[in-house]
Amino acid sequence: MDMTRRNFLKLLGSAGVLLSVGKAHAATNEKILVAYFSRTGEEYGLGNISKGNTAIVAEMIAAKVGGDLFEIKPVIPYPDSYEECKTVASREKATKARPEFIGGVDISGYDLIFVGYPIWYGDAPQVVYTFLERYDFSGKKIIPFCTHGGSGLSSTDQTISLTCPTAKILQGFELRGAIAQNNPAQAESIVADKLKRLNLI
Ligand SMILES: Cc1cc2nc3c(=O)[nH]c(=O)nc-3n(C[C@H](O)[C@H](O)[C@H](O)COP(=O)(O)O)c2cc1C
Repeated sequence: MDMTRRNFLKLLGSAGVLLSVGKAHAATNEKILVAYFSRTGEEYGLGNISKGNTAIVAEMIAAKVGGDLFEIKPVIPYPDSYEECKTVASREKATKARPEFIGGVDISGYDLIFVGYPIWYGDAPQVVYTFLERYDFSGKKIIPFCTHGGSGLSSTDQTISLTCPTAKILQGFELRGAIAQNNPAQAESIVADKLKRLNLI
């Protein structure tokens, strides 16, 4: 098959494979993965966004701690329309749906896994639970982080702890989506502060 480098990279991205190969974190020697779900399109109060709020934060974390990124990308993308996305999201929440995501990641080599998501109806989107239920997190540390429009973590750290009872859930953190989207300097400083508190930088 004749495939240009750009098409190859595009294919890797769309297959949901790792976007970078990270090194062990210098301070702790832990291998770190930053797995996240994030949506683009029309977002409440933000207009049409081409990069999701959580994606922005995930990339900041990975860059600061030297982690690998894995995007939890649903096989069926959520609608770009905010209203239509709300309809799908609330139906999925009500039915405890487990939407499939594209590709996968071998988590066995990682010690610490950040799991990032937007808050949807006071919870993590259902596709994040598909991810959490797919793998064996025994002995792994998980740090939940979210972006939101005002709800904070909304106890998702506790829900994750119930979903992954054999993992050690460390203190999660939250950030308003609008800050991530519109004020990168402030977002960088909040993220750096959280990572310092976790002794990761
Ligand atoms: C379907 C849907 C439901 C949402 N529900 C909430 C909510 O309950 N509480 C909240 O603070 N924000 C809520 N939001 C706002 C998002 O959490 C916020 O904009 C987030 O930063 C989006 O992140 P993303 O760009 O990574 O997808 C909701 C957004 C959508 C699309």
